[in-house]
Amino acid sequence: MKRDFLTLWDISPEELEQLMERALSMKAGRERTTAPLTGKSIGLLFEKPSTRTRVSFEVGIYQLGGQAVCMSPADLQLGRGETIPDTARTLSRYLSAVVIRTSAHDRLEAFAQEASIPVINGLSDTHHPCQALADLMTIREKKGQLKGLKVAFVGDGNNVCNSLIEAASRMQFSLAIACPEGFDPAPDILARARASSRSEIAVMRDPMAAAAAADVIYTDVWVSMGQEQSAAEKKASFKNYQINHNLLTNAKNDVIVLHCLPAHRGEEITDDVLDGPHSAVFDQAENRLHAQKALLEMLVT
Ligand code: CP
Ligand code: NVA
Repeated sequence: MKRDFLTLWDISPEELEQLMERALSMKAGRERTTAPLTGKSIGLLFEKPSTRTRVSFEVGIYQLGGQAVCMSPADLQLGRGETIPDTARTLSRYLSAVVIRTSAHDRLEAFAQEASIPVINGLSDTHHPCQALADLMTIREKKGQLKGLKVAFVGDGNNVCNSLIEAASRMQFSLAIACPEGFDPAPDILARARASSRSEIAVMRDPMAAAAAADVIYTDVWVSMGQEQSAAEKKASFKNYQINHNLLTNAKNDVIVLHCLPAHRGEEITDDVLDGPHSAVFDQAENRLHAQKALLEMLVT
């Protein structure tokens, strides 16, 4: 029976714990070298640009002994109108799993419905669960545990924020989200996360209140891929939602700063914070590789 990874609801808290352990062991080089993907090909179908997700998957698949097959709509018949179900059924005959980055989450669900191989969400308009795996791993690596921590997310209630909400619900840390009115996370995602957990998930307008006594402060771009047309309007709404030195003074002394990247320096985060002593941003980027290797091992072998 194949297993997909479209959102964090596809994986139990216990499995998430195991996955973190495994990823941290892989990073530390404690695990014996294994090549569980030997003889297997994994598809990477990206309908949007990517630096971290595509390259870390490609490298991770190589390190696990497999072959990555990179595809974009422009070089598939999908780009000429072949249906998602027909594409999914065909690719399932060649590949052992597929990672898909697409604009609409329902395209991903339609693909997963017809595919007989695991489908992994490499970012959709509403979710970025592979990012959340690396986020959890990084917090665990830096803080030793997740339960009981306070994480502040300052910025847009977007795909990265939605997956962080699901992560908070799964792993029992409290999450304070500061976003301007009109840019709240999806209500259905919030409702499900709150119903499934006792951890506090709060949405507020004041970034200083969100950052108060925080162990982790997280942000993402104000303008996500595909939202370029509303960029000027969005940037005006978010001008007070920046991670800067002043915001950090409200957090705990040992606060860590996360950003999924790419960053728009000087907008959602200042240079001095991104490059400063509290930043764990490039460890977080590295952890994409380790967390996704552990995920592939769990889903494909
Ligand atoms: N964080 C992230 O997913 O980066 P890419 O868009 O470069 O893959
Ligand atoms: N929210 C961003 C994340 C990029 C990794 C976007 O969707 O463009």
